[in-house]
Amino acid sequence: RKAIHVGLLGLGTVGTGVVKILANNANSIAQKVGADIQIKKIMVRNPDKSRSVAVDELITTRLEDIIDNPDIDIVVEVMGGETPAKDYMLKALQAGKHVVTANKDVMARYGRELFTAAEENKLDLMFEASVGGGIPIIRPLKQCLAGNKISEVMGIVNGTTNYMLTKMTNEGLDFEEVLAEAQAKGYAESDPTADVGGLDAARKIAILASIAFGARVSVDDVSVEGITSLSKADIGYASELGYVIKLLGIAKEDEKGIDVRVHPAFVAKNHPLAAVQDVFNAIFVKGDAVGEAMFYGRGAGEMPTASAVVADIIDVARDIQHGVSSRILCTCFDQKPICPVEK
Ligand code: NDP
Ligand code: HSE
Repeated sequence: RKAIHVGLLGLGTVGTGVVKILANNANSIAQKVGADIQIKKIMVRNPDKSRSVAVDELITTRLEDIIDNPDIDIVVEVMGGETPAKDYMLKALQAGKHVVTANKDVMARYGRELFTAAEENKLDLMFEASVGGGIPIIRPLKQCLAGNKISEVMGIVNGTTNYMLTKMTNEGLDFEEVLAEAQAKGYAESDPTADVGGLDAARKIAILASIAFGARVSVDDVSVEGITSLSKADIGYASELGYVIKLLGIAKEDEKGIDVRVHPAFVAKNHPLAAVQDVFNAIFVKGDAVGEAMFYGRGAGEMPTASAVVADIIDVARDIQHGVSSRILCTCFDQKPICPVEK
């Protein structure tokens, strides 16, 4: 049977999950694609680190081993950060490789540039895992709800802070203690200030707003307030008044333009978002035809996030197998008015 080859950039929390799923579900995935999916090379920073998956012979620290390898069809970027990840993705596209990424840092600021490179080279650029971890949300917004005029996308889009707020609310634990737990579980970014400061949620809501409104919304267009100034006392007062505190990402489009923001909010205890606990995320989408739809699931972590990455790999592999390309490019973004960022 034919094989489709993957080059992995990164073998941390998400990369390890991708290796596990491709190995554990190899047969069923091959059936769905009509070809085997094999990892050919894995690029890491530190080749001496001990790994929880047996892939020693695939490890490299040289980008060329992936970019210049003619056997590799799909480059999967799960390194994180803007630099050098964005350059590596561009190089991969320029070298004729399809790209799958979980990287919201890059997609929220340089999405347009990457889509252009993908389109020019007639390649797929997939990023389902960049928002909502394992929750299907990019494809539903882009494809299943394509017939709607979307007026609002709103919800909990950061697993780390939702995990922290849940623990602080239910168990009365301190900020630092629960942050350390979220880091140990692999939910937090390598720089967790992006989670607690609201930047990670801002990146995600910018990506969702771009797709929902067909607009060029960058992370720099988002007004951001995180949870760093919240205390146990704030959470206690909210509870006495019948509320829980949740970090929300909110994107709306009306006649004034597009307004995108992230901030902690009081949510009534009987509202569905109040029941979103632990690392779970929930995203509401309001469309003129569908009404309100809610997407719910694990927003971070090794296997849920890898689930979304592997789904993208499978879609790209099917394209390769059937000789079609450019599955869901998002190049049709307009320049639309965006409300100024509040400082
Ligand atoms: P980790 O920090 O766990 O892993 C990063 C991996 O990339 C490591 O293997 C590291 O190598 C490698 N790496 C980092 N920089 C370089 C470099 N310059 N050159 C070569 N290799 C490099 O990150 P995660 O797996 O948690 O996250 C990966 C991506 O997925 C990020 O974009 C993140 O935002 C996104 N994401 C993460 C989720 C999660 O729950 N963790 C959920 C959704 C998205 P080494 O192992 O040698 O250090
Ligand atoms: N740090 C992110 C979060 C990972 O906690 O939601 C998932 O994107």
